[in-house]
Amino acid sequence: MADNGGARKPLMSGNWKMNHNHLQAIQVVQKLATRLNDKTYDVVDVSVHPPFTGLRSLQTLIEADKLPIALGAQNCHWEESGAYTGEVSPQMLAKLNVVYVVVGHSERRQHLGETDEMVNKKVKAVLAAGMTPIMCVGESMEERQEGDAQDKVQGQVRAGLEGVSDEQVGGMVIAYEPIWAIGTGETATADDAQEMCEAIRVLVADTSSDDAAEALRIQYGGSVKPDNTAELMDQPDIDGALVGGGSLDPDDFAKIVQFQASSD
Ligand code: 13P
Repeated sequence: MADNGGARKPLMSGNWKMNHNHLQAIQVVQKLATRLNDKTYDVVDVSVHPPFTGLRSLQTLIEADKLPIALGAQNCHWEESGAYTGEVSPQMLAKLNVVYVVVGHSERRQHLGETDEMVNKKVKAVLAAGMTPIMCVGESMEERQEGDAQDKVQGQVRAGLEGVSDEQVGGMVIAYEPIWAIGTGETATADDAQEMCEAIRVLVADTSSDDAAEALRIQYGGSVKPDNTAELMDQPDIDGALVGGGSLDPDDFAKIVQFQASSD
């Protein structure tokens, strides 16, 4: 699809996965904040997604120091409360001023049996609680080799957005994360990533509306590093990155977030 002339502000998100306890989380965000400045925040949005145990500490830090860094979670349940041992509700996250919630990460789909139906329930629950879902989609290497990558990803997008209003879709984030690129050091080429992100946007224009497709932010995720970020972000349908390993170290993540500085 046509370049939107930069109307969609890139969202650079650090998904820490099961790393950094709450004390480490504070140190990482303090260091990150010293490396970013107002110019950075003018051109990109930044979010950090610690494990649940780090959320309250980071909320306190972000609010006390008035940091323009958004707090994110990595998952939630779809119910508001109840007998769901070990789960955390969207309302509990909203109470901590969480802004973004990652939903349907491939590690949860793969290892914890999360289905498209569960992902759809979570997307709706996160929206209902006033937060923004970052809905993850992506194909396996086998699916790519079989030529099924687009079908797989479009199926996940269709199912995940079922029953979500056009306006809500427009405010969401979808993260395209090819499973074979996650934590492997193997990044999708900028062309391949663009092709899939464009296919997602075209599908959303079809299933929701042109306006929703234009407004929707699509991140790329999978071995994003300081030296490959600028090329990926240069693609017209890629509006940010969901970064795993590269977000754990504040120096690396600051470089990724400030990819525009290195491409000037
Ligand atoms: P890596 O950046 O470690 O490949 O992880 C990507 C990811 O899964 C982010 O959600």
